[in-house]
Amino acid sequence: MSKTSVRKLMERSSFLYVHDDDDFTRKDYYRVCGFHLQIGVRPLSKLGFGTTIWAAALALCQYFETEGIRFSDKKVIELGAGTGILSILVALLGGDVTITDQPALLRQIERNVSFNIPSNFEPYVKVRALSWGRDHMLFPSDYDYILGADIMYFYRCLPLIVETLLHLSNEKTIIYFASSMWYNKKAISENYHILSHYFETEIVCRYEVKDVNIYKMVRKIPTPGDVLNL
Ligand SMILES: C[S@@+](CC[C@H](N)C(=O)[O-])C[C@H]1O[C@@H](n2cnc3c(N)ncnc32)[C@H](O)[C@@H]1O
Repeated sequence: MSKTSVRKLMERSSFLYVHDDDDFTRKDYYRVCGFHLQIGVRPLSKLGFGTTIWAAALALCQYFETEGIRFSDKKVIELGAGTGILSILVALLGGDVTITDQPALLRQIERNVSFNIPSNFEPYVKVRALSWGRDHMLFPSDYDYILGADIMYFYRCLPLIVETLLHLSNEKTIIYFASSMWYNKKAISENYHILSHYFETEIVCRYEVKDVNIYKMVRKIPTPGDVLNL
């Protein structure tokens, strides 16, 4: 572990229950990087974990704010984006963003994009289906950044995520992942350990209150004889 800092995690500034909406039961509001984000959520939806905002997504938003990371002219893809909050912020910070998740989640992401992204930014925001280990070959390998928040908690997903990351990245790609360590800590730690065989991995920030780690990874240069063994 290299330089880390221990911080409190940002919280929503307000929320509003919504009625007569097929996609959302609540809107959560956040102030970050000078933007006022409104994100529709539907806790306990049958669509699964991606219909609420996880602490890891907030941690990455806050990390980009405190570190002053900007994404102007950078090509960015997010895996397992859920509500889309993280990519929406990155688009507002200038990124050319591809927001991905499983097909059932795309409608809520598109709606959250429409709540937050002005029409002149729309050409720089794409919402696409990407199931790890299945659709990744449909995407290019020249991303400047790959993002993932709270997607590392199952052992069974790890080979799919590794395969996807290896396809999407090159040696210049910076990967920022964040994980809520309280949720299946053993699997998460072991998954990052396996990722570290393929990527130089460091914890760059830790949000103690919510037990969230932020990881920065870059691809290791393969040496002759290296074998991908998933
Ligand atoms: C715990 S949620 C995190 C959502 C969001 N990143 C956040 O932090 O708020 C995990 C996300 O991964 C997505 N996911 C799970 N398995 C997936 C797979 N095999 N391929 C693509 N996305 C997947 C889910 O649909 C969900 O949106």
